[in-house]
Amino acid sequence: MLSDETVAVIGAGNIGRALIGGMIDSNLIAADHVIATRRTASALDAMEDEFPGLRTTTDNVAAVQEASVVLLTIKPQSRAEVVTEIREHIERDVLVVSVLAGITTERLQLAFGQDQPVVRAMPNTPALVDAGATALSAGTYATEPHLALAREVFEAVGEVVDVPEEQMDAVTGLSGSGPAYVYMFIEALTDAGVKQGMGRADAAKLARQTVYGAAKLAIETGKHPAILRDEVTTPGGTAIAAVSSLEEHGLRTMLINAVGTATQRSKELNEE
Ligand SMILES: NC(=O)c1ccc[n+]([C@@H]2O[C@H](COP(=O)([O-])OP(=O)(O)OC[C@H]3O[C@@H](n4cnc5c(N)ncnc54)[C@H](OP(=O)(O)O)[C@@H]3O)[C@@H](O)[C@H]2O)c1
Repeated sequence: MLSDETVAVIGAGNIGRALIGGMIDSNLIAADHVIATRRTASALDAMEDEFPGLRTTTDNVAAVQEASVVLLTIKPQSRAEVVTEIREHIERDVLVVSVLAGITTERLQLAFGQDQPVVRAMPNTPALVDAGATALSAGTYATEPHLALAREVFEAVGEVVDVPEEQMDAVTGLSGSGPAYVYMFIEALTDAGVKQGMGRADAAKLARQTVYGAAKLAIETGKHPAILRDEVTTPGGTAIAAVSSLEEHGLRTMLINAVGTATQRSKELNEE
């Protein structure tokens, strides 16, 4: 259980801070069992104010030396420098959880030591408001208890699925990049209201809430989206007229192809 661990969050920026907040706010772990690092001391001071008891340091080595779980939440461009700095100071039984996009568990194992337990995670930005969608893949030496620890961390900020690692590019295209598609949808819905003569603020409010409410209804009822859509479409009514127009313009194919393109791009990036 996470409550028995000491967690070092290396690179406590957007995602790292969200995970710290999720773990502490849901009482999964005591604040003084979490050590946050980044280079900007003033930002760490602000986090200490936000999460009383949280330990912070600009010294990555000192943080990992005390940790039984290391969360790597740095940007890919800092990876080489940070891994070189900390690799010799991480014991073989410490679980390393990485959110670094595109870095495979095999590469993590090579970086930290062949038998290091590692878990790769692909979260998304709604984790910042505890509504994230995260996929996890365990490395060769991560056991079920290791995976359970990683699950605890990400379930504190949303939903979690375990996937075979070869599906991580598809996850990147679907939920990792997905918020971008939904924001475009909200923006377009807003413009549509404005085109019909509505004020932008009202249109934006209705568009945001419609997307949020529809997702909430799908989650809470567990009904198939097609059933929920049928429930909105009165025979000969307005919704079915719009659905027909969306079908005519290939909304589904457009999304399937967009996720396919993002998945392909993720694969290309991993090969660079
Ligand atoms: N955002 C997403 O949607 C998303 C989704 C999936 C995965 N990810 C992954 O999540 C990771 C983090 O993304 P993010 O959006 O949270 O980035 P971010 O806000 O820039 O956070 C990274 C943090 O690392 C710190 N840092 C940089 N160099 C460091 C060093 N040498 N030692 C310690 N800390 C250091 C930076 O703070 P200082 O400048 O103060 O050091 C920064 O706050 C990325 O690898 C990304 O691939 C993000």
